[in-house]
Amino acid sequence: MKIDTVTTTPFPGQKPGTSGLRKKVSVFQQPHYLENFVQALFDTLQGTRGKTLVIGGDGRYYNREAIQTLIKMAAAKGFGTVLVGRDGLLSTPAVSCIIRKYQAYGGIILSASHNQGGPDGDFGIKYNIANGGPAPEKVTGLIYQNTQEISRYLIADIPDTPLEDIGEFQAGGLTVKVIDPVEDYAQLMESLFDFDLIADMLGEGVFTMCFDAMNAVTGPYAHAILEDRLGAMPGTVINGTPLPDFGGGHPDPNLTYAKELVDIMNGVNAPDFGAASDGDGDRNMILGKHFFVTPSDSLAILAANAHHIPGYRDGLAGVARSMPTSQAVDRVAARLGIECYETPTGWKFFGNLLDAGMITLCGEESFGNGSNHVREKDGLWAVLFWLNLIAARHQSVEHITREHWQAYGRNFYSRHDYEGMDGAIAQEIMDDLRGKITSLTGKSLGRYRVAIGDDFSYTDPVDHSRSEGQGLRLVFDDGARIIFRLSGTGSDSATLRFYMEKYESDPARHNQDPQVALADMIKIANELSGILTRTGRGGPTVIT
Ligand code: G1P
Ligand code: ZN
Repeated sequence: MKIDTVTTTPFPGQKPGTSGLRKKVSVFQQPHYLENFVQALFDTLQGTRGKTLVIGGDGRYYNREAIQTLIKMAAAKGFGTVLVGRDGLLSTPAVSCIIRKYQAYGGIILSASHNQGGPDGDFGIKYNIANGGPAPEKVTGLIYQNTQEISRYLIADIPDTPLEDIGEFQAGGLTVKVIDPVEDYAQLMESLFDFDLIADMLGEGVFTMCFDAMNAVTGPYAHAILEDRLGAMPGTVINGTPLPDFGGGHPDPNLTYAKELVDIMNGVNAPDFGAASDGDGDRNMILGKHFFVTPSDSLAILAANAHHIPGYRDGLAGVARSMPTSQAVDRVAARLGIECYETPTGWKFFGNLLDAGMITLCGEESFGNGSNHVREKDGLWAVLFWLNLIAARHQSVEHITREHWQAYGRNFYSRHDYEGMDGAIAQEIMDDLRGKITSLTGKSLGRYRVAIGDDFSYTDPVDHSRSEGQGLRLVFDDGARIIFRLSGTGSDSATLRFYMEKYESDPARHNQDPQVALADMIKIANELSGILTRTGRGGPTVIT
């Protein structure tokens, strides 16, 4: 095998964000751009000779080209085997599952998650380590450092590998195994959930559901698991073919971008259960007939009901949530007598807690839940969890949720996103807020008294690493909270996120619209930040 050493110079800004490096497709298409980043990554990895690397992506535009480059560079690096999904497809949780199952050295995921795809959309690359989870900050920091000093990359001079069919190929000294993207993942799901019970419910045709794959990677997974194995009616899965541009939409399962599903679930003859997943299959949105489950509530409900699910019947070691996620799950943990950890935003912070066996379930308000079965959040896993729960309790999504509120109280919660902002204005708003946040401690805002005003920082309880600047936080005396964060997953413009939360114990008040229940919090957030006057906007782009 001939290995070419190609001379290159650094690109600025190859810094991995909340979840890998994400840029416009056109940025990735520049000569050497992808190669530089991959070499910077490979230069941080030791002892890879003969080892296995998992590669897959969400099928977005540029996926196929990038995979061929990765295979050639993996050959040059001396990996022994590459496992790659057929057509280059693997969902993010499936990559995590496959790394763990085959004890691979690590994996590379090509995705920009929920960001738009196509030639004008985003592309992304993320490295996952041997535990199946996203590389921690100390690794991504090293990668970034290498991108700034890079002068050459190594690539094997070998032909492209055909990815259309399952099979084994030799690429120089490297064995490329093209695998079924679904099989290993489906087996793992079957080991956790009562497939017979779910199949009984779905097979009768009385209980109906709709799953929106949003033209992204979960299409093949949902067809195989929900329709083929569990017997849901054909047509249950909509938008089930992965498209390079996701059909022009935002593959983000929220009330704004999953509009087709939301309309179906709010329509006449709505199915009993609705769900959607995102570009790379790690997010989930759960809907009942005319009913939406806030992701934070979903996490709390899963934790409170884990004993109904075969894979979690033995109890939960602990739970964790990201800081902006509502405190609903904290109440469940308190009642179960288990620990609840509060981590910064991003799945990578759950990895150590999961590896150390300190938690079993974890989640984020951003439509992400997961467990110790893999080291990524997992969209279809959450859908199957809910289906198993509904089948076990014989109750609707709405009934289960309302009963949960009755038992624990309701944490009203909403996130306001201001997308597509001018980066400098977004930064200025955050800087101004940061300048005054600590001095608000002890002061009154409206009828609330601020107990804590700070910039959230975190010390990992396992490896004691510190992460600073993880979001501006106002915690009020009664536990209500307002949080301000700058998104770390965008590609060019900036997104500001405001998170508002408030607890209500009185069941008579659980029916309020969250926007009404939280109106005073929203007003405080808007006034403190000056968001509307400073941007001239009428309101947020997306409300969850
Ligand atoms: C967003 C979410 C965060 C999630 C990440 C990756 O990051 O807020 O919870 O882990 O996407 O899916 P952000 O854009 O806020 O940095
Ligand atoms: Zn995702």
